[in-house]
Amino acid sequence: MERRELLRLLACAGALPLLSRFAPLASAAGTEDWQAQFEAARAPWKIGFATPPGDLPLTRATVRGRFPDAVSGTLFRIGPAGHDLGGERYHHWFDGDGMVHSLAIDGTDVRHQGRYVATPKRVAETRAGRRLYEAFGTVPPGAEPPTSADSINVANTSVLPLQGEVLALWEGGSATRIDARTLDTLGLKTWRADLAGMPFSAHPKVDPDGTIWNFGVSASQGLLALYEIGADGALRRAAVVPVADMPMVHDFAVTERHLVFLMPPLVFDSKRKQAGASFLDAHVWRPELGMRALVVDKQNWEQRQLLTLPAGFLFHVGNAWEEDTPRARGSTSTTCARTTPTRCSRPTAR
Ligand SMILES: [Fe+2]
Repeated sequence: MERRELLRLLACAGALPLLSRFAPLASAAGTEDWQAQFEAARAPWKIGFATPPGDLPLTRATVRGRFPDAVSGTLFRIGPAGHDLGGERYHHWFDGDGMVHSLAIDGTDVRHQGRYVATPKRVAETRAGRRLYEAFGTVPPGAEPPTSADSINVANTSVLPLQGEVLALWEGGSATRIDARTLDTLGLKTWRADLAGMPFSAHPKVDPDGTIWNFGVSASQGLLALYEIGADGALRRAAVVPVADMPMVHDFAVTERHLVFLMPPLVFDSKRKQAGASFLDAHVWRPELGMRALVVDKQNWEQRQLLTLPAGFLFHVGNAWEEDTPRARGSTSTTCARTTPTRCSRPTAR
């Protein structure tokens, strides 16, 4: 792809939010009934949807026995924690404001702390005492149209320790930089000036040599962004690939030589979004598309294959590997990166 074309596509993707602009938003039908039923329900899993009123201070755990010597260091975790605000409860568990946790393990000593990621969205909404913007599966009453993907970034999905910092990851917008020691929010991560605001997904993969691979989906633009980052944390390459009928892609697989994207036929429909649906509800099931598998050569991103598998859906990929096919030994026959115990068809397009 020519650099000029890349920059044009990136500019479009950066300038336009993940969620397209739409008319004033209506509250979801039946919201009050739904919330009343939720609040009245007696279910043990509801504890997972309780909203801590603030950060969780440093606490020492009581440990019986001791950890093996190899279990030492700091474990970082993140997840949605702010599920309700101002009496309005989010409708989907992916919506909540992210809270990053650290568990520092040293012998028999374990110290835990948890802090909300101070995203622009959380800062503005907690100041206002109510939800101002929409989220993945909820359009709160009176929500303002997002001005960019990062205006609704909740930084709640995954973490990536990198060069003394921790990146709090979402998938519709930028990574958020976190101080690994204090868990202070340091701001959005910009890999390169012209990539500001580009989606950076929540499941990057790390090669044995430390190379980090990741992607990002701009649903409204029909673009798949690709990233290669060195072990030193510096961006090596980035590009965007146009994808027709852009589906929801949450995870991907990396083999020795390929990046593999399994693209289920759950496709973003801009008309539904413009009609006021949440981002989740703006997706439609189109089984006629099948499960497309986009296979990208790690060394040359222009070398791409599109395979078609039976329709299906997935969020996560467990593993992937190269089989010792003739191509892997230098022939021209097709190599299939097998991410599930399913069949792999011949390429149908490039
Ligand atoms: Fe995930």
